[in-house]
Amino acid sequence: MINRPDPRQHRKPDWPIETIFIDRWSPRAMSGEALSARELSTLFEAARWAPSTYNEQEWRFLYAHRDTEHWQSFFDLLVEGNRVWCHNAAVLVVVLSHKVFSRNGKPNPVHTFDAGAAFENLALQGAAMGLVVHGMAGFDRAKARQTLKVADDFDIEAMIAIGRPGDPARLPSELREIEVPSGRKKVEEIAREGPFAF
Ligand SMILES: Cc1cc2nc3c(=O)[nH]c(=O)nc-3n(C[C@H](O)[C@H](O)[C@H](O)COP(=O)(O)O)c2cc1C
Repeated sequence: MINRPDPRQHRKPDWPIETIFIDRWSPRAMSGEALSARELSTLFEAARWAPSTYNEQEWRFLYAHRDTEHWQSFFDLLVEGNRVWCHNAAVLVVVLSHKVFSRNGKPNPVHTFDAGAAFENLALQGAAMGLVVHGMAGFDRAKARQTLKVADDFDIEAMIAIGRPGDPARLPSELREIEVPSGRKKVEEIAREGPFAF
């Protein structure tokens, strides 16, 4: 029997919020099963509806399904610490953002902020579908730019591993131990009325 942690057992919000925020977390245990093109489109559909400055929609997603021609080149971008669990992902995604406004070519100061919003939409949709969606900073950005032929006016933001939940018992022991939904700072630690006081 697979014993997966239940986020609602580990996380108790201090204030009333929708359960989807608690249910979304970043497991590493994945089954290795494939994701359908429809499921992936649904995830990108959720990302698509994120807010952005002037409705720029700066986010772009490059992806590779497991066992396809592009998989290995995406997988090879990851640091070893992410490879050890990502080999069971169904899809690997590289998130890009357009650094300049499409209408005038001027620098867009919030392109990363907007791409992050799109990622979170995708992650929440994935959680609602019972999927693993795990963001990653641990990969080679220069290699990603070169291998995936990313244009200069796009930043490489992050990678995402997506898959079906798997058995934590099959993770390496050091990852098995931390396969637990994490807690958060208190609201008072992250939000203050008035000027900077952290
Ligand atoms: C942009 C970003 C980069 C991350 N990079 C990695 C990573 O390289 N490897 C990893 O195992 N987890 C990575 N994580 C997962 C975070 O550690 C995780 O989101 C954080 O501990 C909060 O836990 P939760 O997502 O389960 O709520 C990343 C998450 C984000 C959003």
